[in-house]
Amino acid sequence: MRILVTGGAGFIGSHYVRTLLAGGYPGFEDAEVTVFDKLTYAGNLANLAAVADNPRYRFVQGDICSAEDLDAVLPGHDAVVHFAAESHVDRSITGAAGFVLTNVLGAQQVFESALRAEVGRVVHVSTDEVYGSIDEGSWTEDHILEPNSPYSASKAGSDLIARAYAKTYGMNISITRCSNNYGPYHFPEKVIPLFVTNLLDGHKVPLYGEGANVRDWLFVDDHCRGIQLVLEKGRPGEYYNIGGGRELSNRELTEKLLEATERDWSYVDHIVDPRGGGHDLRYSVDYSKTGELGYAPRMSFEDGLALTVQWYRDNRAWWEPLKAAAATARA
Ligand SMILES: NC(=O)c1ccc[n+]([C@@H]2O[C@H](COP(=O)([O-])OP(=O)(O)OC[C@H]3O[C@@H](n4cnc5c(N)ncnc54)[C@H](O)[C@@H]3O)[C@@H](O)[C@H]2O)c1
Repeated sequence: MRILVTGGAGFIGSHYVRTLLAGGYPGFEDAEVTVFDKLTYAGNLANLAAVADNPRYRFVQGDICSAEDLDAVLPGHDAVVHFAAESHVDRSITGAAGFVLTNVLGAQQVFESALRAEVGRVVHVSTDEVYGSIDEGSWTEDHILEPNSPYSASKAGSDLIARAYAKTYGMNISITRCSNNYGPYHFPEKVIPLFVTNLLDGHKVPLYGEGANVRDWLFVDDHCRGIQLVLEKGRPGEYYNIGGGRELSNRELTEKLLEATERDWSYVDHIVDPRGGGHDLRYSVDYSKTGELGYAPRMSFEDGLALTVQWYRDNRAWWEPLKAAAATARA
């Protein structure tokens, strides 16, 4: 089995690759893995250092928006797991065009190249943010799409393209939609790693408004197991929600991060939410359909958060250069 993983140098894709090559998915212990990644600011080969010497691993630098790049590497693979995307909502508000280009056109190029190469199985990794915001209850897969940010709109667009490739060309492609992830190797612009690293350094953290926004936080390993199950058992052209972590308001999350780093509320700056109507109040997915494939989250939020905070304590050499580069870019 040869699997091509786009975006495999990012946060979630690299977790999937490390787990796959460590034999974490039964039946796939012999899988050969090609990571295809442009190495944008979010892509980092340090995330793959643990597998760099594995003979079943290969890295190819390339752009999903380039048919030429894709066609040079895709033939001969049995499956594609498509993670590559621009993934930060705040960046999509100041630079929507790049999100449409990578997330919509890039996804279409991946599917088209996979079709040309007659790849037998494709999983498109998407997000629950395509559904918009929900005050009560949880979204099932047939809920209408009401994305509110350029990021979520571009992911919704790519989901529909994926479905169209299943319906029009008979491609064996399934789509996953997951809630917010956290865990090691999470780029320190996202809320949990940003807050943890700031607090470890004794710096303040920016909390939007009163922190009323509610998110379902899922440990990255649970997400990747869900993706693997969909790869193995998902039906063509169908959507699969992945979630079931812990629903927390940003205020509750901040409280837990302050506790974990032994800081108090004097380290919190309440700032105006720059995202306006693009910042959804609450997300919540019903993952019972994926549950029928055998999916259930395993990691409790308390254990996952403790493990994550400890990882950031132990791995300053990973995140300090990323924060320094971001600070230089802002200056
Ligand atoms: N982070 C979350 O909480 C979350 C939740 C649900 C779904 N998702 C989805 O999961 C996927 C991975 O998310 P992540 O948090 O790991 O993102 P990330 O930003 O950490 O990683 C994205 C990766 O894609 C690569 N990439 C970007 N543009 C590319 C291009 N044009 N060509 C090739 N590679 C390119 C980057 O170099 C990087 O390695 C995304 O599709 C995202 O929408 C993320």
